[in-house]
Amino acid sequence: MGAPVVLGIESTCDETAAAVVRGRELVSNVVASSMEEHARYGGVIPEIASRAHAEAFVPVVSKALADADMSVADVDAIAVSAGPGLAGCLAVGVSGAKALALAADKPIYGINHVIGHIAVTQLQFGPFPKDVMALIVSGGHTSLLHVVDVARHVDVVGTTLDDAAGECFDKVARLLGFPYPGGPHIDRHARLGDPHALRVPQGLTQGRAGREHPYDFSFSGVKTAVARWVEARMRADEDVPVDDVCASLADSVASVLSRKALDGCREYGSKTLIVGGGFSANSQLRERLAADGASRGIEVRIPRIALCTDNGAMVAMLGVNLVEAGIRPSDPGFGIDSAMPLTTVSV
Ligand code: KG4
Ligand code: ZN
Repeated sequence: MGAPVVLGIESTCDETAAAVVRGRELVSNVVASSMEEHARYGGVIPEIASRAHAEAFVPVVSKALADADMSVADVDAIAVSAGPGLAGCLAVGVSGAKALALAADKPIYGINHVIGHIAVTQLQFGPFPKDVMALIVSGGHTSLLHVVDVARHVDVVGTTLDDAAGECFDKVARLLGFPYPGGPHIDRHARLGDPHALRVPQGLTQGRAGREHPYDFSFSGVKTAVARWVEARMRADEDVPVDDVCASLADSVASVLSRKALDGCREYGSKTLIVGGGFSANSQLRERLAADGASRGIEVRIPRIALCTDNGAMVAMLGVNLVEAGIRPSDPGFGIDSAMPLTTVSV
């Protein structure tokens, strides 16, 4: 058999996406987002997102196949995100993917969305070297993983004990009056400010908590400290230096993420760090990791932004890895798992 061809389908949150991957080649990639429909509510509304998936599913999957000049009969397998994510959203993608698989008599893989964020880097940087570490940062996840075999086994080295990095940015952004998602607004303002203007705590880096949780993260203290500072200025009727607030927050979060991820690489003898998830679009984090990685002799693989945010290519790429590894397809009766553990690669 030549390189496996996999159709990947994604519907965990506010993107309905489908893509075709052949081996390490991205053949087509279609993303429809309901993000704008959530903006005025300040966060993703599950019911609105589910309805948007139901409307977008057929057009998005059809376009991904048409752009690849294929019909579903031409793919070797279908892969779909089965979790973690919003239950109603997952149900739309998984039901649709199962219907397609049944109609076309194709094997189907229910995959872990977060592991997809790791797998997708192969489309830009090629196969994984041995003992890769992965830092996954998104709206819902901040985790450091040791990738033993992307198709079979991933170990959790560290994770956030409270808020994810993206969540922390989004909450501060809301306080500053930016629309959802606030992360990109903080990024933009941070470029103009002084990163040392405010003293922002760096969670789990010092003292006993730092020693007990060398690779875990905590961003709720960061969020609270910045919020208190901003609210005190507002109460005193003083101007809030938005650029400085954003720059100080972004600097603190980027430096903690970079330091812990690269310390983890040293601990596991890894020469390569993969970065994925929507927050890896953050320019302060990208710059910090590039600089720190270079000075510590670790190759940092951060994909282009279109591959960082949720998409179907990440699902299809992990599907190719599963087919190549000879992993048995999922039982067609598999369920969704909105809290799928990071150690589950496929169901
Ligand atoms: O992975 P993702 O697209 O969705 C989830 O699975 O959560 O990540 C979305 C998160 C949001 O919190 C958003 O504010 C954040 O990524 N984000 C950013 C940037 N672009 C997206 N945060 C900071 N700077 C950015 N440039
Ligand atoms: Zn994601």
